[in-house]
Amino acid sequence: MNILVTGGAGFIGGNFVYFQREKHPEDRVVCLDALTYAGNLSTLGSLLDDPMFRFVKGDIADRELVRALFAEEKFDIVVNFAAESHVDRSLENPELFLKSNILGTQVLMDACREFGVGRYHQVSTDEVYGDLPLDRPDLFFTEETPIHTSSPYSASKASADLLVLAYHRTFGLPVSITRCSNNYGPYHFPEKLIPLMITRALADEPLPVYGTGENVRDWLFVKDHCSAIDLVMRKGRVGEIYNVGGHNERTNLDVVKTVLAVLGKPESLITYVADRPGHDRRYAIDPTKIHNELGWLPETRFEEGIKSTVEWYLENREWWENILNGDYKNDYERLYNGGGRLGGTK
Ligand code: NAD
Ligand code: TYD
Repeated sequence: MNILVTGGAGFIGGNFVYFQREKHPEDRVVCLDALTYAGNLSTLGSLLDDPMFRFVKGDIADRELVRALFAEEKFDIVVNFAAESHVDRSLENPELFLKSNILGTQVLMDACREFGVGRYHQVSTDEVYGDLPLDRPDLFFTEETPIHTSSPYSASKASADLLVLAYHRTFGLPVSITRCSNNYGPYHFPEKLIPLMITRALADEPLPVYGTGENVRDWLFVKDHCSAIDLVMRKGRVGEIYNVGGHNERTNLDVVKTVLAVLGKPESLITYVADRPGHDRRYAIDPTKIHNELGWLPETRFEEGIKSTVEWYLENREWWENILNGDYKNDYERLYNGGGRLGGTK
């Protein structure tokens, strides 16, 4: 099979390309990625010399480029990871999120229709369901939970999901969608909670915890997300949504303290800063459907996953130091100091 992975130079897409090449060495993988600030060719490393792998730099919203690539490659499966993915950035520049996340999805699906692609898989997020109250631990997101978004990021992902379902119903496009909880693991861009805390703690810099730190996220090791997508895009029912998560809910404060404990750094590095506007309180996935239909279960416990992630950041300093020393430095200043986060300790 010939598989298109969009956004494969990013965090989850990069892990997914490695997963595919290892699990299905007979399948060829093409990666289309615009190499935005979040895309990094060094993530793909040795794959760049693999004869069963091809990297193409380009924007999924570029219709001409996408059509030419589909005409040339005759893909069997398209799996779309490419997106603007950071909530805080979506508060700054919503339009970019609409272009990549919604229009980009449409352009890819139009090409799938035109060139008869066998499966279009959309990588979505639990954030489309909005949030749950902190005092109702009995509530979880199921595939039937209504869409109820909070940020421009989640609104753009929900819009894309609706388009995907519409292309299935109206045009018969063979689609599937996975909605996963927060991922962590290697190659995670150091603006997101866990890698941000690891890299800042290593430099003995203050760790900015938004609000009270009581918000809850449901953390899944990235390889377990990759195995879920692989199952759904190959064996999942067409037109269906599958929630992905491992029942591993933690408060942000708990996560940050765990990172500090693994690194042997003091909790005095924690700094409470102004809250994120519209901050979702709790995410929690019910993964019953993917377990019952496809037998999927996560393999990595949080305690092991977080240790191996910290080790990865210790052993791959060059990967993240290059990011921290590049353009991202200015972004961090603007997003955090300019936005009043670090300035406005509570
Ligand atoms: P990321 O920001 O690390 O990577 C995104 C990649 O997409 C980058 O390589 C970037 O260059 C590329 N990209 C962005 N816009 C593009 C465009 N217009 N054309 C081509 N390439 C483009 O993101 P991630 O965390 O790896 O997330 C991947 C996908 O998984 C996203 O769709 C996200 O919504 C979804 N998701 C993420 C999480 C999470 O915890 N990170 C959880 C659930 C779902
Ligand atoms: P993030 O990694 O941005 O993922 P998402 O917002 O998509 O869940 O943030 C995870 C949680 O950590 C979220 O509740 C916001 C919080 N957070 C902080 O407290 N401090 C930070 O510096 C960041 C980036 C996030």
